Amino acid sequence: MVVEKHVPLQAYNSFGIQASALQWVRVRSVDDVLTLQREHPGWLRSAPLVLGGGSNLVLTGDVQQLVIKVDIAGRALVAETPTHWVVQAGAGENWHDLVAWTLAQGWAGLENLALIPGTAGASPVQNIGAYGVELQDRFHSLDAVDLHTGRVFSLDAAQCGFGYRDSVFKHAPGQAGVLGLAGRALITQVRFALPKRWVPELGYLELARRAELLGPQHPVTARQVFDWVCDIRRAKLPDPAVLGNAGSFFKNPTVTPEQCADIIGRDPKVVHYPLADGRIKLAAGWLIDACGWKGKTIGQAGVYDKQALVLVNRGTADQPCTGGQVMTLAKAIQTSVYERFGLLLEIEPVVV
Ligand code: EPU
Repeated sequence: MVVEKHVPLQAYNSFGIQASALQWVRVRSVDDVLTLQREHPGWLRSAPLVLGGGSNLVLTGDVQQLVIKVDIAGRALVAETPTHWVVQAGAGENWHDLVAWTLAQGWAGLENLALIPGTAGASPVQNIGAYGVELQDRFHSLDAVDLHTGRVFSLDAAQCGFGYRDSVFKHAPGQAGVLGLAGRALITQVRFALPKRWVPELGYLELARRAELLGPQHPVTARQVFDWVCDIRRAKLPDPAVLGNAGSFFKNPTVTPEQCADIIGRDPKVVHYPLADGRIKLAAGWLIDACGWKGKTIGQAGVYDKQALVLVNRGTADQPCTGGQVMTLAKAIQTSVYERFGLLLEIEPVVV
């Protein structure tokens, strides 16, 4: 295992931002991680950047801490319960390929999460979610290595502390009241519990509409849901291979009914959904759109013209987009949404 110096990161972040890793290492197995831990314990104590697909990342400069690129491969059925198939994937497996593979094997359940960029190992970090399903709905457990001690450990769903685009892996150790494993744990394997008695998740309006068009005599298949999700994503979201981006740049905020009434008073058209706990979720994309941001650019950072929640790289070879420009745009959006609606949008990707 070789530690390389000054490795360009542009190809390793889906935003396509130019930056370098001062020190970089690729791990292909748990043994590689343990060797690294034994040989360079000091580096691993200063919160290395663990890199999967780099699809939820904004680089604002060269990365000073060690970058560990996780390339652990492998996918297999590892257990079966009366109700579920338990499928395991190495952390470095491409997420979308994994989803397609599980379906081809006849294990449905991940189809609503098709086409999400990134790797299997990153999927629990932000508890990826789309079209009515979150990773936590299909998660079984994971294996990880403690980068400080070299201890190998497993976590179940409760121990991962999943929330909306959140888990213990997004929080730095030492934050009051939260178990934080960011920069401390490296996920090596993830296991998914896929239901044997599959029913389609059609809560997202566009999926329900397509199912209705089929008619009641044609039960929806997982393959159809997969194809519909791919269609919807391609229509709404930019392909990072074509236009650099990190997916949704802000979280959808949740507010109290009183706050929601205040916002409806400011604009009655605001898109909002009641949650089971009585709070109300607002569509951040709508709020940003209502402030007139769709299609705008600052420097070489832009707001996608079909979905205002996604910031994109509009840089050229002569004038590349920097992470600083992306953050300037993000802050300008936060300010205008705050001034118009009294709400501070929370940034979703990891900013380094
Ligand atoms: N909307 C607008 N203008 C916009 C964008 C959205 O009016 O520019 C409105 C839409 O018309 C719709 C509502 O806002 O009524 C919600 O939009 P959409 O269905 O596109 O979903 P979203 O809430 O913007 C979330 C996730 C996406 C996920 C979709 C589908 C977050 C932060 N984002 O987006 O996840 O694919 O729902 O489930 O929760 C990601 O996390 O990177 C991501 C793409």
